[in-house]
Amino acid sequence: MSVPTSAPAPSAPASSSRHFPPGFVWGAATAAFQIEGATTADGRSPSIWDTLCERPGAVLDGSDGSVACDHYHRWESDLDLLAGLGLTAYRFSISWPRICPGGKGEPNEKGLGFYDRLVDGLLARGITPYATLYHWDLPQVLEDKGGWRSRDTAYRFAEYAAITQHRLGDRVKHWATLNEPWCSAFLGHASGEHAPGRTDQAEAVVASHHLLLGHGLATEALHGGRRPAEVGVVLNHYDITPASDSPADVDAARRLDGQQNRWWLDALYTGAYPADIVEDFARWTDMSFVQDGDLAAISSRLDWMGINYYSSFVARGLGAPAPAGPRPTPWIGCEDVELVPNGEPVTHMGWDVVPSGLTKVLERISRDYDAPPLFITENGAAYDDVVVDGQVEDPDRIAYIDAHLRAALDAIDAGVDLRGYFVWSLMDNFEWAWGYTRRFGVVRVDYDTLERTPKASAHAYAAIARENGWA
Ligand code: FCB
Repeated sequence: MSVPTSAPAPSAPASSSRHFPPGFVWGAATAAFQIEGATTADGRSPSIWDTLCERPGAVLDGSDGSVACDHYHRWESDLDLLAGLGLTAYRFSISWPRICPGGKGEPNEKGLGFYDRLVDGLLARGITPYATLYHWDLPQVLEDKGGWRSRDTAYRFAEYAAITQHRLGDRVKHWATLNEPWCSAFLGHASGEHAPGRTDQAEAVVASHHLLLGHGLATEALHGGRRPAEVGVVLNHYDITPASDSPADVDAARRLDGQQNRWWLDALYTGAYPADIVEDFARWTDMSFVQDGDLAAISSRLDWMGINYYSSFVARGLGAPAPAGPRPTPWIGCEDVELVPNGEPVTHMGWDVVPSGLTKVLERISRDYDAPPLFITENGAAYDDVVVDGQVEDPDRIAYIDAHLRAALDAIDAGVDLRGYFVWSLMDNFEWAWGYTRRFGVVRVDYDTLERTPKASAHAYAAIARENGWA
């Protein structure tokens, strides 16, 4: 797949009529640990996130996932919410420790039963399930044996994928293996912000490889199953530009882009890690953990690819003269690279709002890689919602979603094969190390009563989905 080399058409004015291609998929996304709660119910064993939440200081508000949105018990009314908004696709994740509480061996019938009912509930409402197998909740029993630092975890992951598909594959066609493996590897093992909360750069690189190997082995298992499976992977991508044309900044952007984007895309689509980044990582590891055949498995055929897009980065090399004032924190795994604000408005996460970066990310993947059809599997924004009489008017979130959808359409107009969009998130939820302090939902969750109320953004997004664009 390729896109024309000419510049993309400029965005049309916000009021003009624009439409997505017929059949474009409109959905919302969630993840098991962020919404389900019920962490000890029906034989589920602890995940690495349950463990991290117990570590003092790891989660901003000291909270955990034990109740979250109580989706485990409220899933039916949550699916009614989705259906009420007229959305026809739902991206959710399956909790590995519910299915394989012991890490291997006999699957847990009650865990499988929950997703069985969820999938039936979706289909009964005319909503297509998109299941993600790993959204960061590794069974703690596997972490105790080395987690993603251990090659064995990749094989356990493929087993779990096969078990799950065996049970749900008659009704679930769309499977994603991993969600944002960069976060699992680097936030989990280098910066320590995410579970398992370790801080060793070499371990992060080892984990990145075993995550990708797990993806490859699971992809082979899913494709080899009795039922036809459309297999994809979900990556977080950013458009990365240098702060100036100084050699230090240009090199900072190269390294950051290499680690965030090319490391994953090259492995998946060219069957090789990018040589310049292997060289950058050489101060930590000689990559001797990569075995013959690994890259062939990692680059096995994909049917679709998911892109999570939130923001873009401007990179500065610390060798370059820095402006006066406090220096931002150097970037994980690129010690001598820092991110600089790009002058755009920011969300409640502090993330720059850069819709044009989404167009660039989509075009770049289409142009530079032999990628399958693309989906935006997450896009959305946290804002400090103001509740008036139980209602939330959230114009910033509406503007964010609207602008990114227009940016996505710009990419389609330029020739990118983009098939769908899933807003992050259906509802406010446990935002990892930020606990419940950051709200990404288009549906508000009152954490005292667990009551759900669609925000103005839910209605605005539903209207765009219904119209397949803007009338
Ligand atoms: C992504 C995660 C998702 C959510 C959003 C805000 O990195 O995949 O679970 O936390 O960020």
